[in-house]
Amino acid sequence: MAFNPLKEKGIPIEKQFKSWSELNSQPYDKDAIHPYTRTAGILMNGVEVEGALFSHNFARHTDDMELKKKLALIRRIEQSQQKVINWMIPADESNLEVTIGYEQVAVDLTAFLAENEKDPYVKQALDFALLEDFDHLYRYANLMRLTMGKDASSVTKQYTEITVGRPTALEHRHPLDDVRKYADKNTADLMTILHTLTIISAEQQTMNFYMNVGDRIEGSLGRGLYLEIAQIEEQHVTHYESLLDPRMSWFEQLFYHELNECWLYYSLMQSESNNNAKKVWEDNLAMEIEHLRIVADMMKQYEKRDPAELIPDGFSHLFRFKSNIDYVRNILKTQYNYNAMDTEFVPARQVPDDYRYFRHQELVNAGGVPSVEVIERVIDKEGQDYRQEVGGPHPVEEYREKVFAR
Ligand SMILES: [Fe+2]
Ligand SMILES: [Fe+2]
Ligand SMILES: [Fe+2]
Ligand SMILES: [Fe+2]
Repeated sequence: MAFNPLKEKGIPIEKQFKSWSELNSQPYDKDAIHPYTRTAGILMNGVEVEGALFSHNFARHTDDMELKKKLALIRRIEQSQQKVINWMIPADESNLEVTIGYEQVAVDLTAFLAENEKDPYVKQALDFALLEDFDHLYRYANLMRLTMGKDASSVTKQYTEITVGRPTALEHRHPLDDVRKYADKNTADLMTILHTLTIISAEQQTMNFYMNVGDRIEGSLGRGLYLEIAQIEEQHVTHYESLLDPRMSWFEQLFYHELNECWLYYSLMQSESNNNAKKVWEDNLAMEIEHLRIVADMMKQYEKRDPAELIPDGFSHLFRFKSNIDYVRNILKTQYNYNAMDTEFVPARQVPDDYRYFRHQELVNAGGVPSVEVIERVIDKEGQDYRQEVGGPHPVEEYREKVFAR
């Protein structure tokens, strides 16, 4: 890929501040917006949130005043970018509609990254959690039928299937089975690092979102469903963050954060059909190029190394939100019943009966499971669960009938 952000010229940092009216984005029309413009906004909001939070953590780990000030300067801009992006969501888009958008991000982002991931273990990790978020989309879609009488496809359109994945009730594992092995920073492909940072940001944002809006939902069942799925997003953040090499220095990590922002904005600019959003991706890229330059200078100053060596060949591919129906079907067919034991992914039948997974399941699923109940309630009311299977019958035979989630 010819694009190398270290060789581009951005906007000087002091010129990146905007007025309140410039930050206060015109919200999109929820009925007219393309689903992949919505998902791009959700993703980049999560990436900017991660950028700001990472920078805060870095600042709390240094007593160097000059460094703290530089971090504060860049961080203020990350925060303003986050406002511009997240304020594109209109107030009349309900929390549940936005949630459907979040899980569409999880499905189509994860599938794309998995399909383009070279490290077999990282790919496995992506495929593994893909089926879990895919199932969340189905559970929330049924909550939408039940409480709003609305089809979730009004949000996702025909791009993403909505049906049973790895049933949410079965996803609850002991925390010791969430931690993965990391990809060695010295041998990992650049794109593996960027994929990992991207998915961490998206999952973390989803975790935070459910932590905050889960109690804003009417009715005990909806509140229960959000808290149940929020606990899985905690598992997903643990799962993905452990793939990143913890031996990277703070500067190295900061550099990859800025580089990842450049990669994503540059990618999204190419495929964006909405003019307002495209302008935001272009403006933000110009800002990120400058952040990257500043951080590269910091690395030279503090670590006496040139980060140009970290991007020897530029980006081998760009990211794009697109429909991944066949890919997801294939993973569903072959891995729907996978489970995790320590750091490894195994077919369910290989998990011994006395494994901690089963004790944990009994504990948390005692006394009713909201993700199961929501389907039962829709079946009671409408005679069938809500699905959108556009690629044919469910690839897993046992999930073709109306299911009660297990
Ligand atoms: Fe940013
Ligand atoms: Fe999810
Ligand atoms: Fe997730
Ligand atoms: Fe940045």
